[in-house]
Parts: sequence; structure tokens; C-alpha cells
Amino acid sequence: STEQALIRESWQKVSGNPLQHGIILFTRLFDLDPDLLSLFQYNCRQFSSPQECLSSPEFLDHIRKVMLVIDAAVTQLENLLCLEEYLCNLGKKHQAVGVKMDSFSAVGDSLLYMLEKCLGTAFSPDMREAWTRLYDAVVKAMSCGWEA
Ligand code: HEM
Repeated sequence: STEQALIRESWQKVSGNPLQHGIILFTRLFDLDPDLLSLFQYNCRQFSSPQECLSSPEFLDHIRKVMLVIDAAVTQLENLLCLEEYLCNLGKKHQAVGVKMDSFSAVGDSLLYMLEKCLGTAFSPDMREAWTRLYDAVVKAMSCGWEA
């Protein structure tokens, strides 16, 4: 469909350098919701600033993991169902580390922000709409692992 073509076209540029773009996404996320910083703890250590977090190897690995999941969703656009079980499990893991369902809307805003930064005026309203739909589908699949 044209929606899938728009997503693939816009992802092409981002996926060439996932870490760099993931850093833009998470920098924005910590701007929108600084409290999320406390959820990232490696070896029980708490980061004292977004800068410190964004320069830790473990956190950069998390960024790579996030970008890989989005890449998988883009690759499996026609068949997101095959990721459903994986995403459900991923949701459970995030609930276990203290992420609230609400926080995923700030992540979605940060994703759109990053795409806009990367693509500039080429990021059309139709693309934004297509990405919003894809992201909502991913969050919906992750939410199945959430227990109220
Ligand atoms: C793992 C936090 C969003 C994908 C983790 C871990 C934490 C965490 C603390 C465990 C430590 C680690 O692996 O680095 C968060 C927070 C988020 C967020 C606070 C935003 C509110 C996302 C999103 C995705 C994602 C949007 C992908 C769509 C992953 C993956 C893992 C992970 C793939 C590894 C799971 C495993 O070990 O099997 N996350 N995360 N995260 N996260 Fe996130």
C-alpha cells in the first residue's frame, strides 16, 4: 500500500544510522519526561543526568535494541501479527522494570520528532499519519503483556 511505501521510504534514511537517530529520540524523550531517567539502571547505578545516561554503553545498547524492534516492525509491515508474541513479552518486561503504559505516548511523540528532524520537510503529513498508525499497533501489541 502507499502507507507502507511511505514508511519504508522514510525509514531508509533513519536506518542507515540507527544509533545516531536513537540518541535524538531518547534525548527528546528525557526532555519531555525527565522522570524516565530513573528507570534506566545498570548494576544498580542511577544516572544523575540525561547526558550521563546517553553516554553509557548499556544505555546505548538499549537504544540499539529499540531501533531494532522498530526495524523489525517496518520489515514485517504486512504481517505485524508475527511479532505479536515477541511484543507482548517485551511489554511484560517493561512493566517489570517500572514503565507505565502512559509513557509510551511520549515515546511516540519522540519518534515523530526524530523522524521530522531526520527528514525535514520530506516528512509529510501522510508519513506522520502512517507512522502514528504503525507505532500505535506496536504499543497495542506490547500492551497485551500489561497486567493492570
Ligand atoms: C529493555 C526501559 C522503551 C525495547 C529495557 C530495559 C529497560 C528498559 C530498563 C532493561 C535493560 C536493558 O535492556 O537496557 C525502557 C523505557 C522505555 C523503553 C524506560 C520508555 C519509556 C522501549 C521501546 C522499545 C524497547 C519503545 C521498542 C519498541 C527494548 C528491548 C529490550 C528493552 C528490545 C530488551 C528486552 C530483553 O532483554 O529481552 N527497556 N524501554 N524499549 N527495551 Fe526498553
